[in-house]
Order: sequence, then C-alpha cells, then structure tokens
Amino acid sequence: MDAEISTQARLQDLEKRNEQAMQGGGTARITKHKQGERLTARERVDVLLDPGSFVEMDRFVTHRCENFGMGENKVPGDGVVTGYGRVNGKLVYLFAQDFTVIGGSMSRTQANKICKVMDLALKNGAPIVGLNDSGGARIQEGVESLGGYADIFTRNVMASGVIPQITSIMGPCAGGAVYSPSITDFIFMVKNSSYMFVTGPEVIKAVTHEEVTKEALGGATTHASKSGVAHFACENDKHQLLLIRELLSFLPSNNLDDPPTLPTADRPDRICETLNALIPDSPKKPYDMLALITEVVDEHYFLEVHKHFAQNIVIGFARLNGRSVGIVANQPQILAGCLNIEASRKAARFIRFCDAFNIPIVSFVDVPGFLPGTEQEWNAIITHGSKLLYAYAEATVPKITLVTRKAYGGAYIVMGSKLLRSDINLAYPTAEIAVMGADGAVNVIFREQISKAKDPVAERQRLIKDYEEKFGNPYLSAELGYTDEVIEPAMTRKRLIDSLEMLKNKRDTNPAKKHGNIPL
Ligand code: HXC
Repeated sequence: MDAEISTQARLQDLEKRNEQAMQGGGTARITKHKQGERLTARERVDVLLDPGSFVEMDRFVTHRCENFGMGENKVPGDGVVTGYGRVNGKLVYLFAQDFTVIGGSMSRTQANKICKVMDLALKNGAPIVGLNDSGGARIQEGVESLGGYADIFTRNVMASGVIPQITSIMGPCAGGAVYSPSITDFIFMVKNSSYMFVTGPEVIKAVTHEEVTKEALGGATTHASKSGVAHFACENDKHQLLLIRELLSFLPSNNLDDPPTLPTADRPDRICETLNALIPDSPKKPYDMLALITEVVDEHYFLEVHKHFAQNIVIGFARLNGRSVGIVANQPQILAGCLNIEASRKAARFIRFCDAFNIPIVSFVDVPGFLPGTEQEWNAIITHGSKLLYAYAEATVPKITLVTRKAYGGAYIVMGSKLLRSDINLAYPTAEIAVMGADGAVNVIFREQISKAKDPVAERQRLIKDYEEKFGNPYLSAELGYTDEVIEPAMTRKRLIDSLEMLKNKRDTNPAKKHGNIPL
C-alpha cells in the first residue's frame, strides 16, 4: 500500500519548491548581478506592476537539455519569470529574463514560456511587456533555442498592431535576439547596463578592424540618439520601469479598444495667452516648438518619445481634455525644422502606431521643406520621406493639423495636410502656406525681370515683398478650404479640444487589401 503523504507535508513541499524558484541563480550570482542599480528579474516585475497584482505562471518549468552536463543544471523557471498583472489597474502580460540563471539564455523551454504569455496577451487583448536580460541563444541547446526565437518573432509579427508590445532592455541583447525587440512598438534601454547589437565588438574587430566599446557600439545613448533603435534611454532599472508604466497610461489595451481617458483639472477652454507672442516676427528666427506643445496639453505634461533622435521632429504622447493624443511637430530650433530621412522614419512609425491603436494625431507644422543635399538623396530621402506621406494618408484616426508658420512645398503636403485626408486644418495668422519661401521663389520665377532691372537688388526686394504679401499668409489656403480656420494662437488649446470632440466618433476606412506596400 502506498505510504500516505499528509496535506501538511504537501503544503510544505510546495513552499519549499516556491522558495527554491524564488532564489533564481542563487545568492552569489544575485549579488554579482545587483552591482550598481540593477534589480533582479523579480524586483523588476514588482516595480513594473501595481503592488500585489502579479500572478506568475510556469514557475516550475525546467529545460530538457542533457548536453554538456546541463542535466545537472536545472533551475525552476529556467531563467525567465512570466505571468500577468496590472499597470494603472489595467491587465498586462510580461516576461522578465533572469540573468542569474544560465545568463538568462534562451532555451527551448524559456521560449515556450514566453510564447505562452504572448499567446494569452493576443487572445485577451492586453499589452505584453518584455524585460530582456539574456546572453542570447542557449549555446548548449543548439538549433532548438534558435527555433524558440523564431516562434517569438512570429508572435511579435502577429501581435503587431493588435496589442501594444513594449521592450525593456536591461542587460545584454545580441545577435538575432535583437530582432524581437525591434519588431515591438517601443524599446527602452538602461544607460550603461544594457546593449543591443547584431555583431559585437570582437567580431567587428576581426572583420573590419574597427575598435569600439560595447557601450559606444550599442549602448542606450547610442541607440537613443544615433541609430534610433531605442525610443527611451533611462538612468537605471527603476526609472525605466516607471517610465513604461507612464507610457502604458496613454495606450489602449488593444486595437479594438479606445485609449484611456483620465480626469483632468485643466480647463478645456484655457486661454494660452503666451502663445500670442511665441512666433518671432522674423520668419528666420527659431523658437521652441516644445513650448507650444507643453502650453496647450493637459497639465502641461508631454511624454516625448525618441527625444534624442532626429530632433528636428518632435513626437510623443499627451492628453487633451483627458484624451490621449499622439503629437507630431516640426522643431524649428533644429535644422530649421526641415524633414530628413531620420525625421521621416521617426514620425512615420509613430503615426502608424497611433493609427493602429486609435490614438488621434495632432500635428504642429513649421517646415521649410526637405533637407537638401547629396547625403540625403543618395541615402534615399525619396523612399524615406514617402513613408511619412504614406503614414499620414493611410491613417484613419482623427487627424488635426495646425500650421504655425512655414508650410512649404512637398513638406506642407506631407505634414498632415488636408490633401492627405486630415480632418481639421488650422493655421495661425503667422502661417505661410506656399510652394516655397519668397527668396527662392522670386529667384526662379523673376530671374529675367531681376537681371534686366535698373537696380536688380531693389527689384528683387520689391518682388520678395510682393510674393510674401500674396503667399506669406494662410489666407489663400483658407480661401480654398485647405485651411478650415485661422485662429488666434491663444485659442489653440480650446480649438484642438473642440476639434477632437467633434471628431470623437469618426469612422473612416481604407480599401480592403491584404496589406499595403509602404516604401520600406
Ligand atoms: C548558455 C550562457 C550564455 C548562453 C551566458 N551564459 N550566455 N549560457 N548560453 N548564450 C552563462 C555563462 O556561461 C555564465 O554561466 C552565466 O551565463 C553568466 O555569464 P557570464 O559570462 O559570467 O556573464 P558576463 O561576464 O556578464 O558576460 C555576459 C555575456 C557573456 C557578455 C552575455 O555571457 C557572453 O558573451 N555570452 C555569450 C553570448 C553569445 O554569444 N550568445 C549567443 C549569441 S547568438 P556560469 O555558470 O559561469 O555562471 C544568438 C543567436 C540568436 O543569440 C539568434 C536568434 C535568431
């Protein structure tokens, strides 16, 4: 007869197993890992989620590899903590790789655990957040672990545009492992303790003889400013996880949901008096577009995305009368607000994210044109610039555009003009909506007249003034109905909120198709 095991003993056994799982890779590895301000996988989960909301899954999963003595090296959970919980009260799924367990490396079973929560997130329409800290494919498992990556990539693609996917890089992320984060919507990186690259410094040195440090090659600052791979570079683990909570507060749970509306004490009809003096008298003088954005949005709070990359365009989230909006704005302080390859890529992807997740787009336009030069042309500004045009034209969410000053040529059309299905187009009296600036225009159309004039300099000045009077304003566009209203800058907040309210139930669709063919 089988020996009886008491319930008490079974409970004690469960407790023992749980305790063992909580220890991850053990005290020594945890101590090594926690140098600096790094947190363990479980501590990270606790910071990310609302207190007490975490429900862990697959805590006792272990790998099945017997190669190279791996049979003796099994840790419950197999180097990744997975499950679900709440952020600001809303359901999210997550996985957090535990570097203290076999370097957080991706085994077949680790991939299965991650795929399980990804599948649940997709089926239940809730965001998935990945906290990545891993030495990559588990070398002892060979191709099996590569298969695990492929399964994750496939799910990333299937989930794209259906649920928000957020990646937090909190340690190494190298080789093909970088591609899962890259498919997700937002990448956060911790400064000085996380890095991403396809090939590391040693391989680069062997192949190209370039010498570069890990940090310079693929650290947070590099990716947040040079490559644009990372959307946020954070000071430490805690800062990063709290910022992810903040980002999530702007997002709906899935593509069929509306973004959350938060109560605000900021009046919708607040007059923004300072804006009447924001635009300088001289069209050549820069001003800070961020000052405009922060003045009009609820409680002056703007979560800037990609702050250090392509700073000639500003993107990010804010609220207007409690509703989330995505903001896209030229920044006259950098490159005079010109559009270039990086700015086009940056804004286009953001617009597509907002459109996928029902977040209205508000654009502030002050754009003299596309940046000229061989570097831009040879690196395919034609292709990249059209991404922005494509994204604006394709988007069916409410689109409101305000021209503050320059809106010239193709850049005018691209930046959310009426002609690309924008819903409401506003302009300040300082707007100049024209094919090009007066200087350049006069040189082209009056070349002969100027050269034949008695006083060519005076004649040129007279023609420039003439052109400016005719086109250096928003009224021609208003006469054509391309601009719906010319507003006093102080009324910006009120009018944007009026427009959003009016467009609240907007329904628009694109023709049925398998998918478009955005110029990639
Ligand atoms: C198995 C791994 C591992 C891996 C680390 N470990 N990476 N075990 N597979 N990929 C183990 C180490 O053996 C060590 O075990 C523990 O994790 C901690 O690693 P350390 O090297 O002591 O840590 P550290 O000095 O901080 O260095 C971190 C590291 C280094 C730079 C990430 O571990 C490293 O170079 N790992 C290998 C990286 C790699 O080449 N991965 C494969 C990339 S190819 P012990 O028992 O000693 O504590 C790839 C393809 C993906 O990922 C393709 C997707 C399509």
